[in-house]
Amino acid sequence: MIDPLDLAARFPADFTFGVSTSAYQIEGATREDGRGPSIWDAFANMPGRVFEGHTGDAACDHYHRWESDLDLIYDLGMDAYRFSITWPRIFPEGRGKVNAAGLDFYDRLIDGLVSRGIKVFPTLYHWDLPLALTGYGGWTDRDTADAFAEYTSVVVRRFGDRMDALATFNEPWCSTYLSHWVGSHAPGERSIDAALAAVHVTNLAHGLGVQAARAERADLSIGIVFNAQCFYSASDSAGDKAATERAFQFNNGVFFGPIFDGAYDAEFTAALGDKLKIQDGDLATIKQPLDWWGLNYYSPVTVRHVDRTGGQNRTPCADGMGVFESGADAASQFLSVASIPTTENGAKTDNGWEIKPKGLADLLTQLYERYDLPPVYITENGACYNMGPGHAGTVNDQPRVDYFAEHLDVLAGALDEGIPVKGYFAWSLMDNFEWAEGYAMRFGIVHVDHTTQNRTIKKSGEWYRDLVRAHGSRD
Ligand code: NOJ
Repeated sequence: MIDPLDLAARFPADFTFGVSTSAYQIEGATREDGRGPSIWDAFANMPGRVFEGHTGDAACDHYHRWESDLDLIYDLGMDAYRFSITWPRIFPEGRGKVNAAGLDFYDRLIDGLVSRGIKVFPTLYHWDLPLALTGYGGWTDRDTADAFAEYTSVVVRRFGDRMDALATFNEPWCSTYLSHWVGSHAPGERSIDAALAAVHVTNLAHGLGVQAARAERADLSIGIVFNAQCFYSASDSAGDKAATERAFQFNNGVFFGPIFDGAYDAEFTAALGDKLKIQDGDLATIKQPLDWWGLNYYSPVTVRHVDRTGGQNRTPCADGMGVFESGADAASQFLSVASIPTTENGAKTDNGWEIKPKGLADLLTQLYERYDLPPVYITENGACYNMGPGHAGTVNDQPRVDYFAEHLDVLAGALDEGIPVKGYFAWSLMDNFEWAEGYAMRFGIVHVDHTTQNRTIKKSGEWYRDLVRAHGSRD
């Protein structure tokens, strides 16, 4: 077993340790204080979309319990807290009229962090688009990028003086491909044309958002968070390697290319570029200088070539964090890949994701080789294990402890190799609404009883607290 104190000693003094959450997953109070509905409110209330009809209506009731939750973060010794802002609390209709009570909530939350000496890492978009904007096409329409810039201006104007690092988007792969192609996330659309339009509009919104934020506050530290996927080729064959490269471009390159290089990949563009609907000047808008970027890492994917050009295999499927085996549409034909298990009989978490800590370092190395990237924060890393309190009332989630320890061990190695890693955030502070899985899948280092809302620090929470306290960067 890896000792947390030994691990702590391997991270530099200015390294930031924190915990992550997101608004819809924890806040609840979806109809309070003038908040407008989001696409997740609508989606979760449609029959059959979320496990057993769960919704975020109550979530972890963080909207009312934020003070004691901040005390918990403080007691866990965290240097930083990564959370997201609910766009429809600020703009109930997506744009136009600002809801003062929504701003006031985040004012209190941010002041609460500052007074506890905890760094403030907000994310502007963690998937809860104001429902009103879907009437105008949501992420498939360029107007949403303008609305996002308007929202960014208002948020940065009010809170920019107290932010340590602002992220524009969390995991745009999910809010485009999962939301518009696979259909398992809100708004539940199943169209590759819509998904690729959403990819470009999201990239554009990121660029416009960065410009808007800098116009309000030139010295703000700004980044974006990706769930870049770690692809391994199933073999050394030319076919599998080419398939792996296509999967990389389709899933990662569509964001990293324009944002860091100012261009989409040529092979991708030749096959699917018309669906992006790029206009003159867009690529220059998207490529804004960034201070940092965030990586959410959970699990790798191994791919092999499967010819789909004849349109065979029409089973749509989202596999772990990757979409590979799909229908006869243009994207599936371009991809022509299938995912296979990375390790035979390999260890998996309770939601079936493979555990491969080395993937974290391999992915970082690959991304720094390919792109000119600023320093990185690991903005999410964690594991789904569903065990609850035992007879003594304690939660012994040793597999989660092992998961964190092994990934932090690999991360310390990546730092030794010269990867500029500035911080690490555990996903998640507490068990919460795990999107289409509802409350069935638990990622917290703090257990939440979803009936009583009682919080219990798990063994992993104590272990992480020991590590962060030993590291001691908050004091
Ligand atoms: C990624 C997302 O950002 C977060 O919302 C989600 O709960 C975790 N990964 C676990 O799936």
